[in-house]
Amino acid sequence: MGILEKHKVLEKNATLLLAASFAVVTVGGIVEIAPLFYLENTIEDVEGMRPYSPLELTGREIYIREGCYVCHSQMIRPMRDEVERYGHYSLAAESMYDHPFQWGSKRTGPDLARVGGRYSDEWHVLHFNDPQAVVPESVMPNYGYLDDRLIDATYIEDLLRANRMVGVPYTDEMIENARADFEAQVDPFSDNYDALLARYPGAQVRNFDGRPGISEMDAMIAYLQMLGTLVDFSTFTPDASR
Ligand code: HEC
Repeated sequence: MGILEKHKVLEKNATLLLAASFAVVTVGGIVEIAPLFYLENTIEDVEGMRPYSPLELTGREIYIREGCYVCHSQMIRPMRDEVERYGHYSLAAESMYDHPFQWGSKRTGPDLARVGGRYSDEWHVLHFNDPQAVVPESVMPNYGYLDDRLIDATYIEDLLRANRMVGVPYTDEMIENARADFEAQVDPFSDNYDALLARYPGAQVRNFDGRPGISEMDAMIAYLQMLGTLVDFSTFTPDASR
């Protein structure tokens, strides 16, 4: 009996075909699903990664609201051209507190995973107000209105709590102090300065947009200036055993 003849048996017997299909789907399913149970192990703990500060997290919300991900990715692939242009390739750990992640799949503009520290705050303000003023051929729309929209921290505790619900390790202390931390990050002279830095090591504290009050621009620039700066790549060595 040839192989096709054998297959005929399956095709002619509905119950057998059902059982065989089920077996095939089961194997396929296990192959796809089983690795997900070990996902935790594939994300290396990397020193320096911490949950976003309340102001950075607010900036991230605005980033998502404005659809910046439509033109910008946040994932540097481990290929030479990318690494030379943008810096060290992205680590899984660097987006472990991103819900949802902002890897993106479209690059009308450059990758932003390591844009933190690349430009001054003033550059960002200028660029948001009039991208073509700093990059004449830019097709980026202007977002100058972010500077006119003052924000307070009305819902910041809820935002941290929502992130905690999906796995970001915000402590009760962080949630209790969310509002104070939000305000302290734009004021280097605040009494909460040391406590903010203890909760969010490496947080940059200053008036980001250079104007009085806390605007969406402040939050956005605080977020951008943090991107890619948390992990210190001068001391990071990948663990090849993982
Ligand atoms: C229509 C596509 C588009 C959208 C939407 C967009 N950008 Fe851009 N962006 C660009 C392009 C193109 C560039 C490169 C030219 C330039 O610097 O303006 C750029 C450059 C940038 C840069 C400088 C990056 C670098 O390494 O030089 C930053 C920062 C940036 N965008 C942030 C944002 C943020 C934040 C948003 C959302 C508020 C946003 N962009 C929305 C297209 C876009």
